[in-house]
Amino acid sequence: MEIIILPTPADVGRVAADLIASVVRAKPAAVLGLATGSSPLDIYRSLAARVASGDLDVSEASGFALDEYVGIPLEHPESYASVIARDVVGPLGMDPARVRVPDGRAADIEAATADYDRAIAEAGGVDIQILGIGANGHIGFNEPTSSFSSRTRIKTLAPSTREANARFFDDPDDVPTHCLTQGLGTILEARHVVLVAQGAGKADAVAAAVEGPLSAMCPGSALQLHQHATVIVDEAAASRLTLAEYYRYTYANKPAFQRFE
Ligand code: F6R
Repeated sequence: MEIIILPTPADVGRVAADLIASVVRAKPAAVLGLATGSSPLDIYRSLAARVASGDLDVSEASGFALDEYVGIPLEHPESYASVIARDVVGPLGMDPARVRVPDGRAADIEAATADYDRAIAEAGGVDIQILGIGANGHIGFNEPTSSFSSRTRIKTLAPSTREANARFFDDPDDVPTHCLTQGLGTILEARHVVLVAQGAGKADAVAAAVEGPLSAMCPGSALQLHQHATVIVDEAAASRLTLAEYYRYTYANKPAFQRFE
């Protein structure tokens, strides 16, 4: 894993956006893996600014969301279909027809989730997957004890995840109890994964994912198995990393050919 520690959340967003922009410039029809929640918002804002200034064109790229709630209407403002349309597709000028979100309302959930994995494969696989991490170590909505080889499927949200996401809903009881999420096995197939985290509330999860044992108790630790995983965190989210000085040193001394811009 490459660990990049930066002073502020805005720096995290900008550097992750550099990485994504470099992928899209090299391959305009790139397949992007899209996360929701607060963590990637600075990435999307930074990418949108480049699109607005004419510096980047994402119109040929396609996208696959990580997850979707089950049990709320598609047009609910907090469905991930709505969030992706509002925060990503519109501001980045992506083609809505090329962006998919798991269908949380499907009558046949098993068929819908199998179809989602098939669609990712048919698109050629994800070139770069954006990830946040839950305070409990989840990536996507693969809650603790998720199998490292899991595929897209229905999951029950952990009570702590429902509490964390209550901020997006009028009433905590309105937070759905279930979701569809890409599996850890699905996520690990992306060619490059970029996990971003900001704030002290993520420090334990980041440390467990990066330096802890491989464990289903911290689903983010599955990224240790990935050949090309980049973790970009601010100082607060890095505060529990025991090798923080080493990561700073290796990033500062990165050979020019390994830099993405
Ligand atoms: C969202 C997702 C989740 C979030 C995680 C962190 O699509 O898959 O894993 O990334 O819950 O959420 P925030 O960024 O809101 O702290």
